[in-house]
Amino acid sequence: MKDGKNKEIKVSILFTPARIGAMELENRMIRAASHEGLADWRGRPTDEQFLFYKGFIKGGIGLIITGYAGIMQSGKSALFHMTMIDSDKLIPFHKRLVDKIHQIGGKIVLQIAHCGRQTWSSETGKPLLAPSAIQCGFYREKPKEMNEEDIHTVIESFADAASRAREAGYDGVQIHGAHGYLLSTFLSPHSNKRTDKWGGPPENRFRIVGEVLKAVRKNVGMNYPVLIKLNTFENASDGTNPEECVLISKMVEETGCCDAIELSCGTSEDGFVMARGDFPTKAIFNYLRPYCNYNPLVKFFMKTFVAPFVKIKQPPFSEGYNLDASAMVKQAVSLPVITVGGMRTKRFMEEAIVAKKTDFVSMARPLIREPNLPNKFKNGITESASCVSCNQCVVASDTRSIRCYYKEAKTN
Ligand SMILES: Cc1cc2nc3c(=O)[nH]c(=O)nc-3n(C[C@H](O)[C@H](O)[C@H](O)COP(=O)(O)O)c2cc1C
Repeated sequence: MKDGKNKEIKVSILFTPARIGAMELENRMIRAASHEGLADWRGRPTDEQFLFYKGFIKGGIGLIITGYAGIMQSGKSALFHMTMIDSDKLIPFHKRLVDKIHQIGGKIVLQIAHCGRQTWSSETGKPLLAPSAIQCGFYREKPKEMNEEDIHTVIESFADAASRAREAGYDGVQIHGAHGYLLSTFLSPHSNKRTDKWGGPPENRFRIVGEVLKAVRKNVGMNYPVLIKLNTFENASDGTNPEECVLISKMVEETGCCDAIELSCGTSEDGFVMARGDFPTKAIFNYLRPYCNYNPLVKFFMKTFVAPFVKIKQPPFSEGYNLDASAMVKQAVSLPVITVGGMRTKRFMEEAIVAKKTDFVSMARPLIREPNLPNKFKNGITESASCVSCNQCVVASDTRSIRCYYKEAKTN
C-alpha cells in the first residue's frame, strides 16, 4: 500500500481482512466473549449493553462475540444478569440490539451456552445438569447425571437458540464448548465418567458436541457462520490437554458444520487458569458471593488480615498462553483458528498470525479496559494493551456489571 506521497506503507497483518465462513471481517482482532452482566432481569439485552458494544465498534474491532447467552433455564449462569436466548419472546429484544449494531457498521456473533454444573440451582430453579453426578470444585453443588432425554433436550435447545439468533439478525453463533460449562464437561475425561455412548473414548465424549453442531447447522442453514470455543487445557491430571484438543478439533471439522474454532483453557474450579494473571484475593472478598455473604466484621478481618497472605499456585501469565496449543490445532485442521488468552502486544499478535499459529486473535480483559485498542494499534498510539491482568473484572462479574476495576482496589 502507498501513502499520498507514494511512499510504501507496511500494512500490519492484523488489519488485513479475513473470512469466517460466509462472514468477511475487516481485521483479525475479535472481542472474545465476556459476560457483561448488563441484561435485564429476564435476560433481555439492554440499551446499556448496546452502548458497551458500541465502544468496541468505534474502537475498530473486527467482530464482537457476546458474553454467553443461556439456551435454557437449567443452564442459566449464576453470574450477574446473564443474557438469555431461551424463548422466542426474546427475539425482538435481541433484534433491537443487533439492528443498532449493524446501523453503526458492527458485526456481532451470539455466544450460546448451557452452564451445566457451574451454576447453582437457586439461580436456575432446576437441578443442575452434567454428564456425571460430580460437583464442580468451585460451585460445590452435585448435578444430576443427564439421561438420554436430558441430552436430547439440550441438543434441541442449542439448535433452537441458534435459530433465534439467526432470526434476530446476529452475524453468527458461537457454541460454548469451553471453560467447564456443560459441553466442556462432556468433552473432558475429568468430568465425564460415563460408560455409555456419551462417555469413554474421545469419539463418545465428543458425541453431544457433534450432535449440537449438526442440529444447529440444520436449523441455520449452510451459509450461516457457526463457531465453537474449546479448551486446550484444564488444570487436572485427567483433564483436557492440547493433544486431546487436536483430536476434538479434527472431529469438529469432520462434522462439516462449523466455520471456526476459538481456543481457550481452564474451568471455574481451576481458578485463574482461563484468565491468567493475578490471584486477586482482596477483590474476591469484595465481589465474590460466597465470600461477600460473610458477616461484615468477618469480611473485614479476612480482607485485611488473611487475604494479603493467601498464595495459591497457578500457571503463570505469559503472553498468548494458548498459542502453542493453537498452533498444534491449526496444523491439524483447515478451519480458521482464533486464539484467546493473554494477547497483549501488537507485535506478538502479528507474529502469531504471520507464523501461521492462528488466523485471528481475540481479547477479553484488554478490551474491557481499552475498547479502542485496535484503533490505538492501527494509529500507532500504543504497541501494547494497558491491561495488567489483575482479574478484578473476572471476580466482579459474579455480582456486578462488566468494567475495568483496576484502579479501585489494589491486588496482592
Ligand atoms: C469478565 C469476563 C467474563 C468472561 N465471560 C466469558 C463468557 O461469557 N464466555 C466465554 O467463552 N469466555 C468468557 N470469558 C473468558 C474470555 O473470553 C477469555 O477466554 C479469557 O479472559 C482470556 O483472555 P484475555 O487474556 O484476553 O482476557 C470471560 C472473561 C472475563 C475477563
